[in-house]
Amino acid sequence: MNIAITTTRNPDESLINKAYGISKELDIPYVKRGNYSIKKISEMNKIECFLFVEKDKIVLKGEDNAFFWHPNTSEIKMKAIKEGLNQPMVEAMDLKSGDRVLDCTLGLATDAIVFASIVGENGMVVGTEVNKYIACITKNGLKYYEDVDAQTKIFMDMIDVINSSYEDYILSMPDDSFDVVYFDPMFKIPNKKSVSINALRPFAHQEGLKKETLMEALRVCKNRVVIKERVGSGEFERLGIQKCYGNSKFGSIAYGVIEK
Ligand SMILES: C[S@@+](CC[C@H](N)C(=O)[O-])C[C@H]1O[C@@H](n2cnc3c(N)ncnc32)[C@H](O)[C@@H]1O
Repeated sequence: MNIAITTTRNPDESLINKAYGISKELDIPYVKRGNYSIKKISEMNKIECFLFVEKDKIVLKGEDNAFFWHPNTSEIKMKAIKEGLNQPMVEAMDLKSGDRVLDCTLGLATDAIVFASIVGENGMVVGTEVNKYIACITKNGLKYYEDVDAQTKIFMDMIDVINSSYEDYILSMPDDSFDVVYFDPMFKIPNKKSVSINALRPFAHQEGLKKETLMEALRVCKNRVVIKERVGSGEFERLGIQKCYGNSKFGSIAYGVIEK
């Protein structure tokens, strides 16, 4: 996909500097916005998709798609956990205060924020995201998004965003570096009801999990590897996963577990 970076119309100097810095970081062209419409600068520069640097966020806009960072359902999930709900995820992860989590498929970091809330400030949450645009938007959102309560902001600040494939990152890590390693790959049959994933989908890496990766993930964790999947997708059978939390009674999601 042909992507460049620009700003909102008539930007001030700090916005231009921010956009220019991100263009260098992502190695994509910076296009001066001036007072042109999106359609006009796309045509003039023959660009399919623009990364717009706005005052409070970064938006990746395609022809009929806009992807930007927001806390998504993380606050609802944290509330549900406090009320003793969302049990399949909690039971599958079995996290304790102070634990170290590797979220291999960071995306919008919705799940990572929830993990941070469980492991707390003495714990650690690292997230890998292979797509450089998603990684950049999420990193920026976690750092600058303000419309959340102070406690959620603390959990957002805990997340270390790494722009890398999980395959490469896991291979680079020593044994037992984390307590739990988590995967939430893009579902083979998409859940079109998920508005946030619909916006991310055109940019997300779609390849499925490999058994060899799960073996390496087991090596770098102390306790368990957890995989989120659609109920009945056949992925747990393909990957040889026998233990699973959640079923159609809890909704359409299940969590497969491989214990070390
Ligand atoms: C379903 S989304 C994850 C959503 C995430 N759990 C959340 O709470 O926002 C899957 C994400 O994993 C990323 N991904 C897929 N394969 C990857 C890989 N090999 N390494 C790192 N990230 C990967 C995709 O680009 C996508 O952003």
